[in-house]
Amino acid sequence: IRRKLIAGNWKMNKTAADGVALTKDIVAEIGRIGSVDVVLCPPFTALESVAKALEGQSIKLGAQNMNPEKGGAFTGEVSAEMLRGLFVSHVILGHSERRTFFGDTDAFVNKKVIAALANQLKPILCVGETLAEREAGSTLAVVQRHVEQGLAGVTAEQMAAVIIAYEPVWAIGTGKVATTAQAQEVHAFIRDLLTKLYGAPVAQKVRILYGGSMKPSNAPELLAEKDIDGGLIGGAALEARSFIDLVKAAE
Ligand code: 13P
Repeated sequence: IRRKLIAGNWKMNKTAADGVALTKDIVAEIGRIGSVDVVLCPPFTALESVAKALEGQSIKLGAQNMNPEKGGAFTGEVSAEMLRGLFVSHVILGHSERRTFFGDTDAFVNKKVIAALANQLKPILCVGETLAEREAGSTLAVVQRHVEQGLAGVTAEQMAAVIIAYEPVWAIGTGKVATTAQAQEVHAFIRDLLTKLYGAPVAQKVRILYGGSMKPSNAPELLAEKDIDGGLIGGAALEARSFIDLVKAAE
């Protein structure tokens, strides 16, 4: 019932020119892939040129962050409307790197989610525990807080546009992938929570992505789990071959 979704988070990598080159390589092989949803999330500076390289393809464009305000004196920030103007359809919100390095709180992430939805952008809401939190046994409590507070005020109807990404912080960029059992446990917990919040018909439709050292070699096993509906890919999205292979693993 849920189409798989593979999203590439390029983080602070790729100039506009490098991004276009990578996009062209990806498009050449999977530009019109029908069975998997694919989203590329370049840095702001490459959005416009990557959008052009994606013209006429089924691959979608995402941003990595967004300010919830409409406009005004917010030096260095980018609004939902600005992203829409560049053909952006998705936006990653609450990534752990933003929470850790740039002070994004649950309340601020929630404002962004609400603003994204009000502007027809599909939020990819990132949730996940640190190593210390996992070792303290608070994984599920942390994930519950991220989900509940991140989605505060979001209606059941709006949930059709929401994507959740479970990214255990200790697995990001470390080569330490969560075991399929560890990942599935949290994904099932998130789906149960969504069921309590919005009811089963809504919860069954929400895509829950896994993120954290996902690569072609470990993707098939993760994607075979009942509640893992795709991946949010960092390192392996920076190179055409590995990204294409990840998308093919989701077919
Ligand atoms: P890596 O795939 O490099 O571990 O990054 C995952 C991630 O943070 C995607 O948002």
